[in-house]
Amino acid sequence: MKRLGILLSGRGSNFEAIAANVAAGRIPAEIAVVVSNRAGAPGLAIARDKGLPTVALPSGGFDRETYDVQLRAVLDEAHVDLVCLAGYMRLLSAGFVRAYERRVLNIHPSLLPAFPGLDAQAQALEHGVKIAGCTVHFVDEYLDAGPIVMQAGVDVLDGDTVQSLSARILAEEHRIYSLAIARVLRGQYKIDGRRVISAF
Ligand code: GRF
Repeated sequence: MKRLGILLSGRGSNFEAIAANVAAGRIPAEIAVVVSNRAGAPGLAIARDKGLPTVALPSGGFDRETYDVQLRAVLDEAHVDLVCLAGYMRLLSAGFVRAYERRVLNIHPSLLPAFPGLDAQAQALEHGVKIAGCTVHFVDEYLDAGPIVMQAGVDVLDGDTVQSLSARILAEEHRIYSLAIARVLRGQYKIDGRRVISAF
């Protein structure tokens, strides 16, 4: 059985969706550990309530490389095969990315490469795009970069606010993140340049 490591900093709704799909057998893996850089993250409390192994690893005061050495130790000890960033609000160091090369996924609430970084849904709304969405991608040491595994689009409606658009995107995040994780775990892909394409 493959082992997932979840990294989160906040609410944890993507983690919850992943956990539900693991429990339902739609993701061929178990959750080995849930780690947060914020001890008070609601997502960490949800994981604890589910009886999953959790680790709070506060990031304050550490430089990125030093922190990530500790993070790696936690994930290594839990024998994690695939790391899923689920609202994890820190860039990973080059050393971490090298150690877990092609074994880290992220979900971002825009159709990358448009609108990387914070407040992606607000950026999309302000820019006036007519289609917004979300992206699951492999993680490298750059922000919201790395080969794209899956995307889903949603229409931007005339009456949308940041809240209403974010909610519609979030529903798609919850749907495609688990699909992408299952696809990667099954190894049904190869990476050709930046393109993640079907291996069959
Ligand atoms: C999501 O919008 C995700 O795309 C972004 O951060 C948010 C996390 O939400 N990376 P949640 O903690 O999963 O509810």
